[in-house]
Amino acid sequence: MHIQQLKLKNYRNYGDLDLSFDDKVNLIIGENAQGKTNLMEAIYVLAFSKSHRTPREKELIQWEQEYAKIEGRITKRNQNFPLEIIISTKGKKAKLNRIEQKRLSDYIGALNVVMFAPEDLTLVKGPPQIRRRFIDMELGQIQPRYIYHLGQYQKVLKQRNHLLKQMQRNVKTDPTMLNVLTDQLIEHAATLLERRFVFLELLRKWARPIHHGISRELEELEIKYHATIEVSEDANKEKIETIYLSKFNEIQEKEIERGTTLIGPHRDDLIFFVNNKDVQTFGSQGQQRTTALSIKLAEIDLIYNEVGEYPILLLDDVLSELDDYRQSHLLNTIQGKVQTFVSTTSVDGINHETLKKAELFRVNSGTVVT
Ligand SMILES: Nc1ncnc2c1ncn2[C@@H]1O[C@H](COP(=O)(O)OP(=O)(O)O)[C@@H](O)[C@H]1O
Ligand SMILES: [Mg+2]
Repeated sequence: MHIQQLKLKNYRNYGDLDLSFDDKVNLIIGENAQGKTNLMEAIYVLAFSKSHRTPREKELIQWEQEYAKIEGRITKRNQNFPLEIIISTKGKKAKLNRIEQKRLSDYIGALNVVMFAPEDLTLVKGPPQIRRRFIDMELGQIQPRYIYHLGQYQKVLKQRNHLLKQMQRNVKTDPTMLNVLTDQLIEHAATLLERRFVFLELLRKWARPIHHGISRELEELEIKYHATIEVSEDANKEKIETIYLSKFNEIQEKEIERGTTLIGPHRDDLIFFVNNKDVQTFGSQGQQRTTALSIKLAEIDLIYNEVGEYPILLLDDVLSELDDYRQSHLLNTIQGKVQTFVSTTSVDGINHETLKKAELFRVNSGTVVT
């Protein structure tokens, strides 16, 4: 798939922008703070309806303006359709084929995007919520139904936490209410876990050979799912539910004492191993970078196999951070088949053939010259 055209209105430092892209490689060049990331971010927001940089949507609206609009024309499976995101001080609208989609799960997935930015090192190094967010976003874009279950899970979790807090403070509550909420929570938790396990198996399948290749055949990557219950990854939903139920019974008093839900997918984590060593703790900077890159590149193949089309790849300011070998590996992977946006302050030192054929966009304080 690819994005043919992008229009921005009052988006960050872009007042009015209308660009058409090459379906292969687009090279975005500009000094710092000119709007390269803003442009990449706009494409990301068009796909996910959320920014990768901030949870505060109002930041995306140009200062002193009332709303921001992103419009894109997408080509996918020989079809061509518009996507639109409007963010105003009142809220957000997402339109697919000009029709507003009230549920995110009806919007996300229309456009598939994989982004690789310097912050992605935190996928390995950072706190667990970054890895959970990664699973949720990536799984969500290939399986919109997952987003629905995630939303339901979060809703019930909030209610359950609220109830536990009341019970902690000895507020009088309906004694059956906790069981009702626990059952509902388990239902969604088991669905999320089952789907995460399937996704993880795919991620491993694609990431391992890539990591092996980038590390010049020196490193074996392993990804482990760390759950708050003891469960095997081939367990079905019923089995997972049974395990959750017995664990919830076991810890009920502790949950009331603490006033919060102590187990569930919202507390799980991923652990990456290289040659049997935990990369987060024992990996070198290079190994951590290779791991993050392998995971991102794996997604390209994963999405292709699940969706039937390659996603759009956004490489924001990362090329210059990779050594020649990793750079070539990356560019060889995408060559000719993935629409790619590469941003950089300078093309010096980037010699790969793929980039010589790229369409050039020069960014200068919110204006773009092609
Ligand atoms: N809501 C906004 N309205 C106007 N300008 C913004 C807004 N948010 C960020 N900017 C400006 O965008 C610029 C940063 O753009 P960015 O795309 O991050 O730069 P880079 O080219 O280094 O990637 C800064 O000059 C910042 O002041
Ligand atoms: Mg930037």
